[in-house]
Amino acid sequence: MTKLRAAITGIQGYVPPDILTNKDLENMVETSDEWILTRTGIRERHILKGEGLGTSDMAARAVKLLLEKTGTSPDEIGLVICATVTPDMMFPATANIISDKAGIKNAFSFDMNAACSGLIYSLVTASKFIETGTYKKVIVIGADKMSSIVDYTNRETCVLFGDAAGAMLLEPTTEEIGIMDSILFSDGSGTPHLHMKAGGSVKPSSIETVTAKEHFIYQEGQAVFKFAVTKMADVSAEIMAKNHLHAKDIAWLVPHQANLRIIEATARRMGLSRDKVMINIERYGNTTGGTIPLCLWEWEKKMKKGDNIILAAFGGGFTWGSIWVKWAYDS
Ligand code: ACO
Repeated sequence: MTKLRAAITGIQGYVPPDILTNKDLENMVETSDEWILTRTGIRERHILKGEGLGTSDMAARAVKLLLEKTGTSPDEIGLVICATVTPDMMFPATANIISDKAGIKNAFSFDMNAACSGLIYSLVTASKFIETGTYKKVIVIGADKMSSIVDYTNRETCVLFGDAAGAMLLEPTTEEIGIMDSILFSDGSGTPHLHMKAGGSVKPSSIETVTAKEHFIYQEGQAVFKFAVTKMADVSAEIMAKNHLHAKDIAWLVPHQANLRIIEATARRMGLSRDKVMINIERYGNTTGGTIPLCLWEWEKKMKKGDNIILAAFGGGFTWGSIWVKWAYDS
């Protein structure tokens, strides 16, 4: 029987219009444009403003545009997966809400909670439904309204994050393109270094948890940095070695955008020059689930059919991994 692979056949991003610059943050906390830029590579980030707007609103915008762009009817979609750590609500899944807003009625949908690795976890999961012939059109979304869980009085985290969404369409192919291989990991012992303290079953929301600011991101930056810089580089080198890929074979590295120094270390380890690395952290910051699709969307016109692309991510959990993709189309 001919092997089916999952090809990415469309990509679309959405960023909300409001911008929060490093200069703005200088007026909010004890920080400087220079510190933020040199330590993280970020200049500005987009923030979703507006009463009653959440992650699903950005994601539904991206999905509707993706359907239009690829000439796909919402009725053709069989599965929707949304990678997010900022769901509209604890339940139901934000993917259900997005599907409804985008007019997708014939699909089952669920959320993936793997922090900044959520997009690559979702992509691998989606690919299995395609490779087994279960579904012909699957949408994978990475979307986060990080501003909803950021404490804008804490300079250690508020400079890092932004809001955005990205969506991609996956379809089966019998060609040697699409998702070729992946390596995923998680290690729950990383929880103390990066988490949200309250609002879950261990510590339900209360007046005390709100007063103690326990509904915001808690991150021990240095501990996370050390783990991230090693693991993201290791797993990217590992997927290359496993598939006998050399630096000259790789057209693009698409790294999760958490910190420019982590991205540069990963590229160095893979032997790639800067011009082969998709970097837009300067304009968007860390949008968690949104970073990888936003890069692919912005670079769409530069990618060619057959390009070898490595996606790599690291995030809360800890979670990390890499995917080898052969790009499926010329734009
Ligand atoms: N402005 C000015 N000074 C600051 C700021 C700021 N915004 N933030 C921290 N500092 C200070 C600290 O207080 C500290 O001061 P001290 O030396 O007097 O104690 C000094 O700068 C150095 O702080 P560090 O935390 O050591 O700074 P570091 O170089 O590690 O950079 C950062 C911090 C950017 C957070 C980095 O550690 C990082 O990127 N970590 C990894 C983040 C990551 O990858 N997260 C995973 C994904 S997120 C997710 O999954 C949801």
